[in-house]
Amino acid sequence: MRLNILVLPGDGIGVEITREAVKVLRTVCEIHGHDLVLRDGLIGGASLDETGKPVSEAVLKEAVEADAVLLGAVGLPKYDSLPPAQRAERGLLDLRKAMGVFANLRPVKAYPALFGSSPLKEDRIAGTDLLILRELTGGLYFGQPRALEGEGKQRRAFNTMPYSYVEVERIARMAFELARTRRKRVTSVDKANVLETSQLWRQVVTEIAAEYPDVVLDHLYVDNASMQLVLNPKAFDVLLTENLFGDILSDEAAVLAGSIGLLPSGSLGARRPDGKLPGLYEPIHGSAPDIAGKGIANPLGTIGSAAAMLDWSFGLKEESRTIEEAIDYVIQHGPTTPDLLSGQGTTASVGGAVCQRIKSQR
Ligand code: NAD
Ligand code: IPM
Ligand code: MN
Repeated sequence: MRLNILVLPGDGIGVEITREAVKVLRTVCEIHGHDLVLRDGLIGGASLDETGKPVSEAVLKEAVEADAVLLGAVGLPKYDSLPPAQRAERGLLDLRKAMGVFANLRPVKAYPALFGSSPLKEDRIAGTDLLILRELTGGLYFGQPRALEGEGKQRRAFNTMPYSYVEVERIARMAFELARTRRKRVTSVDKANVLETSQLWRQVVTEIAAEYPDVVLDHLYVDNASMQLVLNPKAFDVLLTENLFGDILSDEAAVLAGSIGLLPSGSLGARRPDGKLPGLYEPIHGSAPDIAGKGIANPLGTIGSAAAMLDWSFGLKEESRTIEEAIDYVIQHGPTTPDLLSGQGTTASVGGAVCQRIKSQR
C-alpha cells in the first residue's frame, strides 16, 4: 500500500517525538512492504518564524490532500503575547478545521507495569480502558462572536459556545458506533444544569441513543465527571463530550496512564468519496517547553498515534497491532523516559527500542 503522510513536527518536543514516530513507521513499512511517502511541513511557532503565519495556505492544502497527517505539538512561551490570529495554537485549530476532523479519539488505558507511575492507588486504576471522544471543530474554540477589546479598566472579553443539531448528532453517532466495538457504554458529559449548549447536547445524544438500544447511555455533569474519572475510572467505556471539556478531561485522564507522554490521539472527519478516511494524528500533550531540547520527552504517545493512524486511516490492523505490542513490551522491559517511574532512557533510546522489538517479532 502507498501511504501519503504529511509530517508536521511543530515546536519544542514536537520535533523530538515525531522523529521517533517516523522511525517506527519506516520500520513497519519496510517489514510489511508498504510504500511510505513522507512530506514535511511547518506549523505553529516554526511556521511563524518562517512565514509570519501559524500555518500557511500551502500546508493546509497539503494536509487536506494527504491520506493522513502526523503532528508533534505547537506553541512556546515566546509566541504567547502575539495577537490571537498569530498565536502558534491558532495554526493547529486552523488545521483541524481545514481537515474537517470533528471527532478526536483519545484512548486511555492503565498499563500494569506503570501502576507505580501514577499518584493514584493501584486498585483505582487497574483495569482502566476508556476512550475519550472529544468534539473537535465546534464550541468555544471556534464560536463567534469572540473578542478581547477596550483599554485599561474598560477592557472586556467574551467567547461563544455554539453547537448545532448536526454537530452533536454526528459525534454522538460515532460514540455509539465505537461503543458497539467496545463494552457498549457511552457516558455523555455536559453542563446541562447551566448551559443551553449542553441542554441541546443532552437532548440530541438521548435522541440518537434510541437508535442504539444495545448501548447503555448515561449522562454526567462535567464537574462530577472530572471527579469520577479519578474515583472510579473503570466505570467509563466511551466518554463523549464537547471540545473544551474533552481537552481538560483528557489531560486529567493521563494521570490514570501514568504520564501525559503516553497518550495517543487521532482525529477523524467524514469518509471521502474515494473511500479513504483521512485523519490527524497527534499526542495529547503540548510542546513541553520545560524539557524541550533535553532529549528526554516520552515519544510513546506519538508512536501510539502512528499506530492508530495505520489502523483507522489505512485499515492496516496487523501493522498497527505490531506497534502497540512493541509499546507494551518497551513499557514493561524499558528503556523508559524519566516521566515514568525510575525511567533513565532518552527519547531516541525509547524509539529505537520500539523499532528493535518490531524487527525481532517479524
Ligand atoms: P504540555 O503538555 O506541553 O506540558 C505539561 C507537562 O507535561 C510539562 O511538565 C511537560 O514537561 C510534561 N510533558 C508533556 N509531554 C511530555 C512528554 N511527551 N514526555 C514527558 N513529559 C511531557 O502543556 P503546557 O505546558 O500547558 O503547554 C506548553 C505549550 O504547548 C503551550 O504553548 C500550549 O499551548 C501548547 N500545547 C500544545 C498542544 C498541541 O500541540 N496539541 C497541546 C497542549 C498544549
Ligand atoms: C490539545 C491542545 C490544544 C487544544 C491547544 C494547543 C489548541 O491543548 O490538543 O489538547 O486545546 O485542543
Ligand atoms: Mn489539551
